[in-house]
Amino acid sequence: MSKSASFTCTDCGAVHKKWAGRCDACGAWNSIVEEAPLSSGPPSKALGTARGRKVELTSLATEEAPPPRILSGMAELDRVLGGGLVPASAILVGGDPGIGKSTLLLQAAARFARGGHRAIYLSGEEASAQVRMRAQRLGLADAPVQLGAETNLRDILTTLDAERPDLAIIDSIQTLWADMVEAAPGSVAQVRAAVHELVSFAKRRGTAVILVGHVTKEGQIAGPRVVEHMVDTVLYFEGERGHQFRILRAVKNRFGPADEIGVFEMTGSGLAEVANPSALFLSERGKAAPGSAVFAGIEGTRPVLTEIQALVTPSPLGTPRRTVVGLDGGRLSTILAVLEARCGIPFAGMDVFLNVAGGMRVNEPAADLAVAAALLSAREDVALPPDMVIFGEISLSGALRPVGQTENRLKEAQKLGFKRAIAPDRTQAEGGDGMRIDKMPDLVTFVGDLFAAG
Ligand code: TYD
Ligand code: MG
Repeated sequence: MSKSASFTCTDCGAVHKKWAGRCDACGAWNSIVEEAPLSSGPPSKALGTARGRKVELTSLATEEAPPPRILSGMAELDRVLGGGLVPASAILVGGDPGIGKSTLLLQAAARFARGGHRAIYLSGEEASAQVRMRAQRLGLADAPVQLGAETNLRDILTTLDAERPDLAIIDSIQTLWADMVEAAPGSVAQVRAAVHELVSFAKRRGTAVILVGHVTKEGQIAGPRVVEHMVDTVLYFEGERGHQFRILRAVKNRFGPADEIGVFEMTGSGLAEVANPSALFLSERGKAAPGSAVFAGIEGTRPVLTEIQALVTPSPLGTPRRTVVGLDGGRLSTILAVLEARCGIPFAGMDVFLNVAGGMRVNEPAADLAVAAALLSAREDVALPPDMVIFGEISLSGALRPVGQTENRLKEAQKLGFKRAIAPDRTQAEGGDGMRIDKMPDLVTFVGDLFAAG
């Protein structure tokens, strides 16, 4: 065995000295594979004694205007990118297989090309004929997108160098094969080498490069996370397979705010942009029912209202079930513990199911209070007032912490016909103008108020 062989997690890229069934760094199972080293020997030896070239240094002050943005023509995509594509940038679009990444990017390429820019779409997964068929079905057959089917990195770079497009889409990084790296396609070393070359190309030639990466469930194939640090922008395309809603979320962006989302709907003719996500997420809400609470949230720079649904039933199991979709499971445990310890409301012996309607994912701590309201409403079998939105963070002491962007949350709620809001005590906002704000200092007051009113 070569002494420099290392073991890399295909999920998070952590390097281990020896193989293990579970990665210490990210907790993934069966994700560690053996990788051949890129260079042998310590770096000083590998570099040798030859002197490097002196790098030209500049000052921070500049007369240069910020880079011009090129609009892709898809408003939701441009919003997530922070206002359009930045030339010479590298963007990674990750997501589960079959979620709609290829569809999204083909549509974006078509819009972009119709706007008079040069777009190349290179697929390593589908033959050109397949992509053409999809384009036809989407009504994009006449868009001047240049199409190619190739997996060899050298050929791809030569092609891009010759064509110099404004936008290049590579679908997907896991199919690329760099012949200078001795590892199988899809391995961490291959994927990293290929992405490195493509990012350098983007910087060198001023092309915006979009890389597609499949999120992988089991090892052997490297996931998009192993290259997140190499690109300028990381977007994830999320959604429940059975649901028609898809959310494009920026988790890293060197050119704009992270956490921005774009909302799409998967239809028979491709992805349709959803301009008003709150209306869409609340559209499935029926009459006021126990266990339902409306959370006034913020996603990036945009307010989004979502319905949080809870179901609480007596459990036949020794260890009751805690099932969460669209929220953090740890957060639910914390809220249940605070309800029990601070308000004396136990959930022991009860199964708890929690769900964000519409396949949305909520990461904000501001959702705590809405989650608690949904849980209490389900447990007591009492519906909350249908014209009420809720937001606020719960601390372990049971106190409520104010959250940011209150005005935005309230405005959105008002726009959708809500008349009252429950918020933490020190919230900087006044009601009036058809909107009543009930400010609560802590969870105990909130619980008392909820059942006094209901
Ligand atoms: P795709 O873009 O191929 O997913 P990915 O590239 O992320 O693997 O999308 C595949 C799914 O999208 C497929 O299951 C069918 C669905 N779909 C539609 O519902 N409508 C459409 O117009 C298209 C093109 C795909
Ligand atoms: Mg695809």
